[in-house]
Amino acid sequence: MPLHLEGVGHRYGAVEALAGIDLDIADGETVALIGPSGCGKSTLLGIAGGLLQPTTGRVTVSGEPPAGSLNPFTYVFQDFALLPWRSVADNVGLPLEHRPLSAAERRERIDAALTLTGLTEFAAAYPKQLSGGMRQRVGIARALVVRPAVLLLDEPLSALDAQTRELLMEDLLAIWAKEPCTRVYVTHNLEEAARLADRVVVLSRRPGRIRDVLSIEVPVAERGAPRHAGLLREVHDRLWSMIRDEVVTADREVRDV
Ligand SMILES: Nc1ncnc2c1ncn2[C@@H]1O[C@H](COP(=O)(O)OP(=O)(O)OP(=O)(O)O)[C@@H](O)[C@H]1O
Ligand SMILES: [Mg+2]
Repeated sequence: MPLHLEGVGHRYGAVEALAGIDLDIADGETVALIGPSGCGKSTLLGIAGGLLQPTTGRVTVSGEPPAGSLNPFTYVFQDFALLPWRSVADNVGLPLEHRPLSAAERRERIDAALTLTGLTEFAAAYPKQLSGGMRQRVGIARALVVRPAVLLLDEPLSALDAQTRELLMEDLLAIWAKEPCTRVYVTHNLEEAARLADRVVVLSRRPGRIRDVLSIEVPVAERGAPRHAGLLREVHDRLWSMIRDEVVTADREVRDV
């Protein structure tokens, strides 16, 4: 489902977090949001999915959610946000509770989400028995179980080590090839942006404004090919040159405590 942000701004009291964000996201597109710490990325993601009301501007969607969608917007968070006392299958099924579904439909949806994320044999396990990578797969499965129109991911791989992150990037690409939703992906990691996004939106320091938008022409499904290694490096370097000065300034800032 296409998503349109017009003149979006946000304030937390005296803190101006975002200003003047105009962005159209096409159906099925993956847009990465990058920018220095505290520039308003999570705020923008919250506004895009309706968790937060913008102080100014508006967010609209056009078109219809996919068939069988129970919820147009779902989130995947950095800290997985799993319920430790529930099994994997019961965590994944959480968003289906209080929905008018038959037991068979519920089962079918949970099974499909577990299959998509490679968790079938872990259905009865508990979160504490799983690695970080597996826990985040549960977080992803729980988001997909409602068949969202727009998937909002807030640094989903940031809590994972570099090798697990590689594996999860491969998984995400495989999932995206099968699940036709629109995606907004917040990350600090420029490699993730270069590998996973069709476009990368670079935000300025707070209040976050759009500084640049970089389109990556090679389809995401082909980016893993060795012949594109140079392209990924080039995208990474361009993104870094776009944000480096802002990151240096943010790093040297003395904060109010
Ligand atoms: N509930 C809140 N109340 C007051 N200020 C807030 C609140 N949430 C966020 N902020 C402030 O708004 C600004 C933007 O926050 P936000 O979390 O959106 O940034 P971010 O880009 O996601 O940061 P990070 O890279 O650290 O995740 C920050 O300065 C933050 O301290
Ligand atoms: Mg954030």
